[in-house]
Amino acid sequence: MSGDASAAAFWEARYAHADRVWSGRVNGVLADVAGRLEPGRALDLGCGEGGDAVWLAARGWRVTGVDLSPTALERGRRAAAAAGIGEDALRLEAADLATWRTSERFDLVSASFLQSPAPLPREDILRRASGFVAPGGHLLVVAHAAAPSWAEAALAHAHPFPTPEGDLAALALEAAGWETVVCETREREATAPDGTPGTLLDSVVLVRRTGEGGAGGASRTTGA
Ligand SMILES: C[S@@+](CC[C@H](N)C(=O)[O-])C[C@H]1O[C@@H](n2cnc3c(N)ncnc32)[C@H](O)[C@@H]1O
Repeated sequence: MSGDASAAAFWEARYAHADRVWSGRVNGVLADVAGRLEPGRALDLGCGEGGDAVWLAARGWRVTGVDLSPTALERGRRAAAAAGIGEDALRLEAADLATWRTSERFDLVSASFLQSPAPLPREDILRRASGFVAPGGHLLVVAHAAAPSWAEAALAHAHPFPTPEGDLAALALEAAGWETVVCETREREATAPDGTPGTLLDSVVLVRRTGEGGAGGASRTTGA
């Protein structure tokens, strides 16, 4: 694995210092999108502890998950084993997406909250990921579009958050080969660390590859 060693060290330490970092449950947008699709081959970029990847595999997808942290991936493997999911259905690979390549093509490529306080060439990774989508397949990019409602004002303005329009533009998709299915923000209810109710804002971009086309300039044909 090559790439930014400080990012790998940051995430491995983050996972190693807790028994579990995320809920282990599937992200709601991914469940909503994938639940409407015929299961096929899926790629989960920055899959963390495998909440999305295991959910997909349990529903008949053949899933590849990639993440920097071996500790997170080991938790994903344990969750898969507990769910009776075999290695033929779920492959979890420790790699830096900044340099990771594949010749495989996927019916669903998903990036759920591929965001990081450590160095992350996110837009490059997302642009390259569009090339991993099979004709007729989908690319889903979900991101935190704002700080949690309970965050300090200073944190809320500490760094720029992705917007759906910005993420769509960053993909630089070829107009003729892609259809934009969703490009919007979605608010959802959440619980603050102190137990009080709050909200989170997600940026959601879903595009479908309509043909054999490659990169360069998206056309927005439908909204949601
Ligand atoms: C905010 S977490 C999201 C995890 C998971 N997708 C989820 O929704 O629970 C971001 C994940 O991206 C991974 N990540 C960050 N930079 C990466 C990189 N360059 N290559 C691979 N994974 C990376 C981190 O290890 C972490 O698991």
